[in-house]
Amino acid sequence: MNREIRWGFMGTGRIAGCFAKALTVAEGAVCYAAASRTLEKGKSFAAEYGFAKAYGSYEEMLRDDAVDVVYIATPVREHYNNIKMCLEAGKHLLCEKALTVNAAQARQVVALAREKHLFLMEAMWTKCQPVFRRMRQWVEDGVIGEVQAVDINFYTAAGKGHRLYRHELAGGALLDLGYYPVICAGSFLGSRPKAVLSHSVIGKGNVDYLDSIILEYEGGKFAHLLCGLGTKKTASMYILGTKGRISLQDGLFFMAERAQAVDFEDNVLASCEEPFLMNGYEYEAMEVMDCIREGKTESALVTLDDTVAGMEILDRCRADAGFYYEFE
Ligand SMILES: NC(=O)c1ccc[n+]([C@@H]2O[C@H](COP(=O)([O-])OP(=O)(O)OC[C@H]3O[C@@H](n4cnc5c(N)ncnc54)[C@H](OP(=O)(O)O)[C@@H]3O)[C@@H](O)[C@H]2O)c1
Repeated sequence: MNREIRWGFMGTGRIAGCFAKALTVAEGAVCYAAASRTLEKGKSFAAEYGFAKAYGSYEEMLRDDAVDVVYIATPVREHYNNIKMCLEAGKHLLCEKALTVNAAQARQVVALAREKHLFLMEAMWTKCQPVFRRMRQWVEDGVIGEVQAVDINFYTAAGKGHRLYRHELAGGALLDLGYYPVICAGSFLGSRPKAVLSHSVIGKGNVDYLDSIILEYEGGKFAHLLCGLGTKKTASMYILGTKGRISLQDGLFFMAERAQAVDFEDNVLASCEEPFLMNGYEYEAMEVMDCIREGKTESALVTLDDTVAGMEILDRCRADAGFYYEFE
């Protein structure tokens, strides 16, 4: 039996609910404290998901010595301050993506976590999922030959007033959706491309609605990435190698439960099927808890260096578009 780890949640929105459900299947995870900006909301979330404690402020929860690790599930704009609050309170933490608004903030919080010897990981759940790990292994083993290109897109729509359309919460396609293609491309071609080219369309509410990104790597390898707001949720990924390809075009690539690698004649080179135990967030929870139990302060699956490199790419894209947030 794995040692119990007591989780404290910061924020009680949509994704916090998904993660709370996932914790019920992660061995040793305890839904312990739910902190909201209002006690009423904290209590209602705690009751719904079986948390022992509810707090009406994030600061109060951080003073609870029984909290082993904090999960930050607030809008991107808040992450930088929320992470610093956790680290100053001596808490390990998992923070939703994007880790911060820009690379400078990311470098600062990474340095602080390292200085304080506390665990910090960005909640890039895809990288922890079994199918994604299998695909990385196939690529490493040369199943599709040498990767030449990746092609990834992620579009979604959200209702009026959603945080995605709110500039003041660091909304926009890039920080929320574009981050997946950027980070996933890095998993197959390397996190530091030699060139970044991008074009963005800035829409109503002064947020980016569409971003088209080309990452160029040594040897003529490239990634073509797209993200956008305002259309049905769609997310596909192609990994193209010298001997074959992996394509995830059914369902959403960032939460794939099956995958196949085929050669140029469509003969199957490898395949796998790994149904989620719950909803796919359980694997990042297990990774965090394994690391903490082993006394690690960083995950080898979702490295802090890759996170910072991803933020640097997003910074470059926003600079190309001349798109900034006043509060960064
Ligand atoms: N990994 C994934 O698959 C995935 C999917 C969706 C979202 N996300 C990420 O998760 C984070 C939260 O997204 P979400 O969809 O859960 O958002 P949401 O439903 O709007 O919830 C965000 C929560 O943050 C808290 N909060 C703190 N400061 C806030 C502020 N200034 N304005 C509004 N809310 C504030 C609120 O909780 P209290 O009122 O209880 O304090 C709110 O309920 C984002 O960083 C997003 O990128 C990840």
